Amino acid sequence: MSEKLMDDIVSLAKRRGFIFPSSEIYGGLGSVYDYGPLGVALKNNIRRAWWTAIVQQRDDIVGLDSAILMNSKVWEASGHLKGFTDPLVDCKSCKRRFRADHLLEASAMTMPGMKEKPIEISHIRCPECGGELTDIRQFNLMFKTHMGPVEDESSVAYLRPETAQGIFVNFSNIVQTSRKKIPFGIAQAGKSFRNEITPGNFIFRTREFEQMEMEFFVKPGTDDEWFEYWKNFMMDWFTGLGVRREKLRFYEHPKEKLSHYSKRTVDLEYEFPWGWGELWGCANRTDFDLKQHAQHSGQDLSYRDETTGEKYVPYVIEPALGLDRALLTFLLDAYEVIEGGRTTTTESNKEQETVLRFHPSIAPVTVAILPLNKKEPLMKIAQEIRGVLNKRWAVAYDDTGSIGRRYRRQDEIGTPYCITVDFDSINDHAVTIRVRDTMKQERVAIDQVAGFIAGKV
Ligand code: GAP
Repeated sequence: MSEKLMDDIVSLAKRRGFIFPSSEIYGGLGSVYDYGPLGVALKNNIRRAWWTAIVQQRDDIVGLDSAILMNSKVWEASGHLKGFTDPLVDCKSCKRRFRADHLLEASAMTMPGMKEKPIEISHIRCPECGGELTDIRQFNLMFKTHMGPVEDESSVAYLRPETAQGIFVNFSNIVQTSRKKIPFGIAQAGKSFRNEITPGNFIFRTREFEQMEMEFFVKPGTDDEWFEYWKNFMMDWFTGLGVRREKLRFYEHPKEKLSHYSKRTVDLEYEFPWGWGELWGCANRTDFDLKQHAQHSGQDLSYRDETTGEKYVPYVIEPALGLDRALLTFLLDAYEVIEGGRTTTTESNKEQETVLRFHPSIAPVTVAILPLNKKEPLMKIAQEIRGVLNKRWAVAYDDTGSIGRRYRRQDEIGTPYCITVDFDSINDHAVTIRVRDTMKQERVAIDQVAGFIAGKV
C-alpha cells in the first residue's frame, strides 16, 4: 500500500509537471530532481509562507542570503570537516553501499528480541544480495570542489552542507547593521548539498536540497523556554497550513545520540508512507558555533547588552526545515483518491477522481477561469477577470473540454477555486465559483470576485 501510494505520487508529480527526474533525456541522475511549472510554484509558495511567518510578520527576526561557497576555515571551525560523517559499509559481492546505522536499525526491528541486544554489523548480510559486508568506515558527506584554475590543497572549497553556518559567520554584521537586540533571530532559505550514502524515497533524502533555517539568539538561561516556544511553532505552522495533526508527532533525541553541538534536539516527524520520518528539527545549539568561530577567526563574537552592560556569547535555538521534505509532506497529506468519483450527475464522473487538498495559500494555482465556450463575449469576460485576478494570484485559464473534465483537471493539481463564466454572465454580470473541497457552487458578482478570493486565501 505504502509503495503504491509513493508510486502514485511520483507518477502524478511527473504527469502534471510538479517534479521530473533530473537530466531525464540522458537517463537521469540518481536521486536528483527538477521542479516543473507546478512544482516550482508550490515550492515558492511554501518558502513564502515560511518567510512570511518567520521574518515578515515578526519584529525579532531578519533575513539573510549568504553564499553557498564559503572559506574552508568555516567548516574546520564548525566541526564539519572532521565530524560530518555517516558510517558506511560496502557489500563485498554486489558492491552496493549502505549506511551502517540504517542497517543496524532495520535489523533491530526485524529480528525478534534483538532490539534490546546490541547488534554488530558482522551479524548482518547485504539486504540486496545476502553478501558479506565490509567493516564500518566513516564517510564525509561534504561535496568537495576547487576554486580558481589551480587544483591544489589551497584551492579546496566545499558546497555547504547546511545554511546555518552562513548565519553564524554573519552574526556580528547583522548585530551592527540591524540594531536587533537579543532575543532575535536570523533566517535564510537556500540550497545545501550532502553526498548522502543512501538517498531515496523520492525527494525525502537527496544530495542537493533546499533548507529553511533560522538561528534564534537568546540569553543563556532563557534557552529552555525559547526551545519550547519554537518547538510548538513548528507544529502550529504545519497544522495551520492544513497538515493533519494525527500525521505529525514530536521525537525527542535521546541524550546519548545528540549531535556534538546540541543540548537538546526534538524533531517534528510526519508519518510518511514508509514510516515516521524527520521533517523539521529543533536544536538547542548552545553557544557552540559562535564560540568555535570566535576561536578560529580571532574575532570577538560576544554580544553586549546595552541596557545592563552585560557581555555574553548567546545561546542559539535552531528550527531547521527541509523545503523539499516539506513539499513532499504537503503533497502526500493533500492527496486523496475517490473511487467512483465525487459527483453522480454524469456518466464520466463515475471514474476514479484525484484531489489535492492543498491549503489555498500554498496551492500552485489559486484560481482557474473556465469560460463555457471559446468565443466572444464569454472569452472577453473571462479574460477581463483573469487580468484582474492574476495581479494577485496564480491563475489558470482553461477553455477546453467539458466543464466536468475541467474541474477534475484542476482538482488533480489542487486548485481551490474554479470560476465558470456562462451565458448568464452576459446579463447578470456574475460568475459561478466552485469550491474544490465542498464542490459547492456560489453565484458571485464579477466585481466581487477578487474580494471573495481574498477573503479565502
Ligand atoms: N543546521 C542543522 C541541520 O542542517 P539537519 O537535521 O541535518 O540539521 C535540517 O537538517 C533539515 O533539512 C532536516 O530536518 C530535513 O528536513 C532537511 N534535510 C536534511 N538532509 C536532507 C537531505 N539529504 N535531503 C532532503 N532534506 C534534507
